[in-house]
Amino acid sequence: MAILQANKDYYLLRKQAYVVKFLDRIKHPNSSRISNEIIAHIKENFTKGIRRDHQNMPDNVANKLIDQKIEKILVRLEQDEPWEFIRGWAEFLSYRFKVNSSVLIPRVETEDLVKLAIEDITKYVIENKKEKIKIIDVGTGSGCIAISLEKHLKEKLKEQNIKLKRNQVEFIATDISEKALTVAKHNALTLKAKIKFIKANLIDKIETEELKDSKVFIISNPPYIPTKVCKRLQPSVMNFEPWSALDGGKTGDMYYQELFSQLKGKGINTTSFFFEIDRLIVSKIIRLAKTYSLTCSIGNDHRGLIRYAVMNDKH
Ligand SMILES: C[S@@+](CC[C@H](N)C(=O)[O-])C[C@H]1O[C@@H](n2cnc3c(N)ncnc32)[C@H](O)[C@@H]1O
Repeated sequence: MAILQANKDYYLLRKQAYVVKFLDRIKHPNSSRISNEIIAHIKENFTKGIRRDHQNMPDNVANKLIDQKIEKILVRLEQDEPWEFIRGWAEFLSYRFKVNSSVLIPRVETEDLVKLAIEDITKYVIENKKEKIKIIDVGTGSGCIAISLEKHLKEKLKEQNIKLKRNQVEFIATDISEKALTVAKHNALTLKAKIKFIKANLIDKIETEELKDSKVFIISNPPYIPTKVCKRLQPSVMNFEPWSALDGGKTGDMYYQELFSQLKGKGINTTSFFFEIDRLIVSKIIRLAKTYSLTCSIGNDHRGLIRYAVMNDKH
């Protein structure tokens, strides 16, 4: 009994030492969310986990295993790899999404964009009960926007007792990256979301025929950081997240411009847009809306920074 207690105490001490060591090495002390998560992760997954899974394992072997695991993580953290990539998932609107270096880590500011879309689209469906609706997520990455929108929108409509016809509301998600689409498809399967994934340059592979007779909503968080600014991003972003998810070209508005010209080419004009944007490009976005005779309202994120543009037909 005494030996057991001694082992336990020794164990707790080791655990605390690890936490301190970990915190010492974490480069972003302001990011309390990450610190807490890491601490929780150490406590839950390693120490307890290894003890539970290997009850008969001698202490010295178990301790060595923990040492090795934690050291590996420390090395990755030291190199500025984001915590989400190390543990392999990120949370977005209360769902868990697999992430790896092929996709952007879903950001908390994007959650607000999806919430906005849920509100507006729900209202539209209630007011236009019979209409067919297509929701297109352009540049889907991990699939976080399309999947969480599909889940929450259907839930919300159900709550409001809105009965949809089969395929009345359909979701399409595109990405130029095959690897990102693999992650997104995995997430859709795991979270049981019905989405048609298409490898495309923006919407170029979506048939015009497919959108005919439907109200089209486009939601997108395209790469929007001007190339010059991209090169100054913090190492955890620049060295680990895909460049193709960040670089918005010389002026940052390249993908929005291209998207509108593709839509024009397809002759689609009954569209509402939910865009994530950056303050650096807001004037260009407002000009773009004007060019296409759309209303444009700009919104801020939780930090008070310009982050969203919602565009609609004037009529
Ligand atoms: C900023 S990330 C957004 C990912 C995800 N929607 C999110 O909000 O977390 C932009 C995504 O657009 C994709 N992308 C870049 N260029 C594209 C293009 N020409 N056509 C379609 N997708 C593109 C990237 O591969 C990346 O997944």
